[in-house]
Amino acid sequence: MGQLSRVPKSEVQFSHNQWPSRVAQAAVSRRGDARESSTGTNAFSTTSQAPTASTPIVAGTFILASAIVGALASVWSQRRSDRYIHDLAMVATSGRQSAAVVQDKSKKAQTKFDLQPPKGTRDFYPEDMRLQSWLFGHFRRVAAEFGFEEYDAPVLENEDLYIRKAGEEVSQQLYNFEDKGGRRVALRPEMTPSLARMVLAKRKQLPGVLKWYSLPQCWRYERMTRGRRREHYQWNMDIWGVEGVEAEGEALAAMVKVMSDMGLTSQDVGIKINSRKILTELMAAVGIPEEKFAPTCVLVDKLEKVPLDALSKDMEELGLAKETVASLLEAIQGATVESFEARLGADSPGVMDIKQIFAMAESYGYQDWLVFDASVVRGLAYYTGTVFEGFDRTGELRAICGGGRYDKLLETLGGEPMPAVGFGFGDAVIVELLKVKGLLPDTTTSNVQVVVFPMNGDLRGKALEVASALRNEGLRVDMVLETGKKTKWAFKYADRLAANCLVLLAPDEVERGEVVVKNLKVGEQSVVPISAVAGAVKVAIAGSG
Ligand code: HAM
Repeated sequence: MGQLSRVPKSEVQFSHNQWPSRVAQAAVSRRGDARESSTGTNAFSTTSQAPTASTPIVAGTFILASAIVGALASVWSQRRSDRYIHDLAMVATSGRQSAAVVQDKSKKAQTKFDLQPPKGTRDFYPEDMRLQSWLFGHFRRVAAEFGFEEYDAPVLENEDLYIRKAGEEVSQQLYNFEDKGGRRVALRPEMTPSLARMVLAKRKQLPGVLKWYSLPQCWRYERMTRGRRREHYQWNMDIWGVEGVEAEGEALAAMVKVMSDMGLTSQDVGIKINSRKILTELMAAVGIPEEKFAPTCVLVDKLEKVPLDALSKDMEELGLAKETVASLLEAIQGATVESFEARLGADSPGVMDIKQIFAMAESYGYQDWLVFDASVVRGLAYYTGTVFEGFDRTGELRAICGGGRYDKLLETLGGEPMPAVGFGFGDAVIVELLKVKGLLPDTTTSNVQVVVFPMNGDLRGKALEVASALRNEGLRVDMVLETGKKTKWAFKYADRLAANCLVLLAPDEVERGEVVVKNLKVGEQSVVPISAVAGAVKVAIAGSG
């Protein structure tokens, strides 16, 4: 009722003559609501002219006018379909400003829309979609090369899937709300919890080892920086059911493969790698109690961003002794796998994992990409072992991709543990990097190969046959749909699309059962029988490179 009372006068003064009675009557009765309502603010106050309860004469005039409109409308309504009535009623009650703008002739009164998408989100115009398709094409192809299968889940999940007590940033950045049924829901900030939910739900029916990938859009209410936005797409690759670091080896290989396929090298990108097992052992060795492990990890994660003094202070504020902090930082900074081996012993599980991954990297051929870094902890609480993060070697961009082992996530959802490892690879930072390196493809032109142009309306039927024949051969064909265009226009049009060929249907040629095939890349032109057009176009495309 509150919403109805906000409908302004301009909504009921349909200037065009298609005013259905049911809407008019609803609007007239709404006037009464408006007069009674003291709280409803007019969402369209800029469209003004609405009568108010404090001006009885104006209000009376308005009611009279509304009644006349309603009476006229009931006549008109005989001819209106229910569907149309419904649509208009939706417009009249939904509070859409567009309706107010359309109906109010006064320029001054028009409400301006914000044409930008919500802050931190993006529109994808065709040119942007071409780039996205190119990127996703790389992701999908590499996933297939590594034997991964695609899955998906809803973008909306139950909020409690993300409520973890570790105080992670991601839980604080949730886009969460209550739905109309009173349920707490959230837009997914990442895919891993949904994946865990899906695995747990069908655990018994699923094979022992899963290699799954997805390309979800994720939502985080982030502070925006270069390459960080409030929505992003994230290529996720996960392997479930493998206890050993063979799974890490394969995940890292896929990560490197996609980047090298895009033209990046180990001089552009490195992958920092560490194991939380090493940190657990190290913290135990310097005397940090188990309950302080998680908050200490959060601080260790800031080692590169926060000055050492400030970091030490923060650690002391956690209740760690000055000497403990000093020994921890001394052990981490500049540490190598060897220094940890010396400190923790050759049989340290974390050290053994890392050594094995480096050995596998030699066989895979990506050892140059890997950098052991004891300060890499990662911000998500569920990682239990290896953690890794792709970074740009100039240090200008934020993490390109990241992941790790999370053997206990199913337990947190009430299931039996199942080993798992995987990574997320965002679409934003990589594009920034490829831009800097000049490795982005040209996405300024369309994918159209052939434009079919009938010179007049009589030739359209034949042109449709030609277009169908070309499409049946798998060619990407744009049919000129406007009639009465000049040939010069058609050439310009095809040029703008960067098509390879223009197939022109001219009266004399069609009369003889022929069409003109113009190779737009090399400028050659030939007249070919309609039955041979597909072959001729294919030859032209092949020859035009
Ligand atoms: P994450 O480190 O939070 O991990 O995100 C993975 C990647 O997603 C980042 O390295 C970055 O490329 C991209 N990303 C994250 N947030 C944003 C943002 N606000 N804007 C643009 N890109 C962003 C996870 O999400 C884990 N669930 C990954 C994973 C999968 N671990 C195991 N399996």
